[in-house]
Amino acid sequence: MVPEPSQAAPTAGLGRVLLSSADLSTRIGELGEAIGRDYLGRVPLLVAVLKGAFVFLADLVRAIPIDHEIDFMAVASYGASTRSSGIVRIVKDLDIDLEDRHVLLVEDIVDSGLTLAYLRRMLASRNPASLEVCALLVRETVSPVDRASLRYVGFTIPADFVVGYGLDLAERYRNLPDLHIWDSPKEEPSRGPSRPDE
Ligand code: IMP
Ligand code: MG
Repeated sequence: MVPEPSQAAPTAGLGRVLLSSADLSTRIGELGEAIGRDYLGRVPLLVAVLKGAFVFLADLVRAIPIDHEIDFMAVASYGASTRSSGIVRIVKDLDIDLEDRHVLLVEDIVDSGLTLAYLRRMLASRNPASLEVCALLVRETVSPVDRASLRYVGFTIPADFVVGYGLDLAERYRNLPDLHIWDSPKEEPSRGPSRPDE
């Protein structure tokens, strides 16, 4: 059945590809190799933050050539839907005890850095042997000091909102194999240029 024009509406606003699946795959291969080298002789525990990091984690683990474990944590930011408030609620906690573990926190994107700062404090309080961060994406607006605190970074990207490869807009578009820019709807300028669903 041919869809009515109105049924095409959910994809309106999906902009150009910022990072193709090939770009992502190449870089994630490099990150996996680096993690394998750095943690040789240890069994790191990768802690992924749901939901955005689930696609990245799935590809990253298959690029890491050493034994390791994974666990998941789900958090929700209070306040507006696409802007971090810095106040984070734990929706699902970890199953594995972090005491004396080499923990690698896996994040989809560091935007304001507020979510990460909160998680870092919270995980550090559980006495891991070490705590590092692997972020697929980091905004170019993140300060050099905060940027330097990230052990592994996939790509530095501009301020545009992005979707795909696990990242969502109101739970949509996580399934897209490439990372796309989200073009804000021109007909709703009062909503601001880069945060379409606030
Ligand atoms: P932060 O606390 O501002 O660093 O927010 C980080 C979280 O906001 C990420 O883990 C994402 O879930 C979400 N986020 C920030 N920017 C984007 C984006 O461009 N697309 C989709 N989600 C985003
Ligand atoms: Mg999100």
